[in-house]
Amino acid sequence: MRILHLFKTVINILKGPSKSYPKGMNSIMDPLSDLVVIGEGFISAPGSIILAHDASTIIHCGKTRVEKTIIGKHVFLGANAVILPGVEVGDNAIIGAGAVVTKNVPSDSIVVGNPARVVSTVQDYISKCEERNVLYQVTDEVLKKHGTGIKASPQETKELLDSVYAEYNQRNGK
Ligand SMILES: CC(C)(COP(=O)(O)OP(=O)(O)OC[C@H]1O[C@@H](n2cnc3c(N)ncnc32)[C@H](O)[C@@H]1OP(=O)(O)O)[C@@H](O)C(=O)NCCC(=O)NCCS
Repeated sequence: MRILHLFKTVINILKGPSKSYPKGMNSIMDPLSDLVVIGEGFISAPGSIILAHDASTIIHCGKTRVEKTIIGKHVFLGANAVILPGVEVGDNAIIGAGAVVTKNVPSDSIVVGNPARVVSTVQDYISKCEERNVLYQVTDEVLKKHGTGIKASPQETKELLDSVYAEYNQRNGK
């Protein structure tokens, strides 16, 4: 185990610092990643999974089910959400944390749960967050990088967190 860990560490050092996200951002991607199409401006949270195959049939017939999975533009995929093979996610959709997406998701909608169901529109969600005063400005440097595939630097990430904390504390009288 230690040798394997050392080997991986050396490989990572040789590869140098990661400057860009893979197309699946923070998601675990199906090994058939060419069959996962992701539009521009995608953001995904850790633990999310995007699938394009289902190996459950191998045991029974020696074949695996394969279907292309398509994610539109400006989609957000929540923490630990799973997108199943063959699903199409419309533009601007938000997939809630932990959702299991079994069917196509309409554009501009929010889906949650298992199986994922539409609970609102994105615009209604934004309006609700504005009413509740729980939206915080993201720094220009980080916003500029959104959709470019370039990862925010540690310094830019720190500045973002500092600015959110400052605004949060000011609003909440801390
Ligand atoms: C999907 C999401 C955007 C919806 O937020 P929302 O509109 O404020 O949701 P609400 O609190 O109004 O809930 C609406 C309904 O959906 C349910 N719901 C909300 N989020 C849910 C989720 N992730 N899974 C299951 N049900 C959820 C609520 O319980 C509520 O059900 P009810 O009407 O039966 O009471 C948000 O909950 C979410 O999951 N965001 C992603 C967070 C994340 O992954 N962050 C990672 C950081 S990068």
